[in-house]
Amino acid sequence: MDEKTKAAPVYRPGRVLFSEREISVRVRELAETIAAETRGGGLLVVGILNGAAIFLSDLARCMPLELDVQIDFMSISSYGSAAQTSGTVRVLKDLGGDIAGRDVLVVEDIIDTGLTLSYLLDMLKTRRPASLRTCVLLDKSARREVAVKVDYRGFTIPDAFVIGYGLDWAGKWRHLPDIRAAEPWAG
Ligand code: IMP
Repeated sequence: MDEKTKAAPVYRPGRVLFSEREISVRVRELAETIAAETRGGGLLVVGILNGAAIFLSDLARCMPLELDVQIDFMSISSYGSAAQTSGTVRVLKDLGGDIAGRDVLVVEDIIDTGLTLSYLLDMLKTRRPASLRTCVLLDKSARREVAVKVDYRGFTIPDAFVIGYGLDWAGKWRHLPDIRAAEPWAG
């Protein structure tokens, strides 16, 4: 088979890296830390679709009443292959309201090269929030290409493609309750 006709690799869920229980414990810890470091007056939690939807919904539900949380989502598309981003980002769905003067927490599923989050933060900064913090569930820190301020991180992971708990391969496996290594599959 020549290069042109070679089929793209197919992945399926492999070894469990973080169980449902481990994720839930860590998510609660993150929410407690964020709450302890957030002044009153309302926190706008911004999830990046689609990957952060499940993480955000668990994280936000661990946040205390006093934090006066509001939730919004952004949807962005980054150009590049399924497993790699180019850092060129297009906004598909913007926030519903103005963030000027607000305390904003951006919630992302995973940070890899950092290009996506870096672009997004630069864009949100121009809208003059009172504060802008980031919370990522997974950090592939060894692959970072641009410096990004990660204020809260769930787990640091090695360079491997992972799926589950919101993370997908080709749009699949986001629904898995645990986080797993993606395993090549011959079919
Ligand atoms: P970055 O711009 O390289 O930091 O890439 C961040 C985005 O790439 C994430 O929001 C994910 O959509 C995607 N991504 C990077 N690594 C993985 C992975 O291991 N599994 C699923 N998606 C990933």
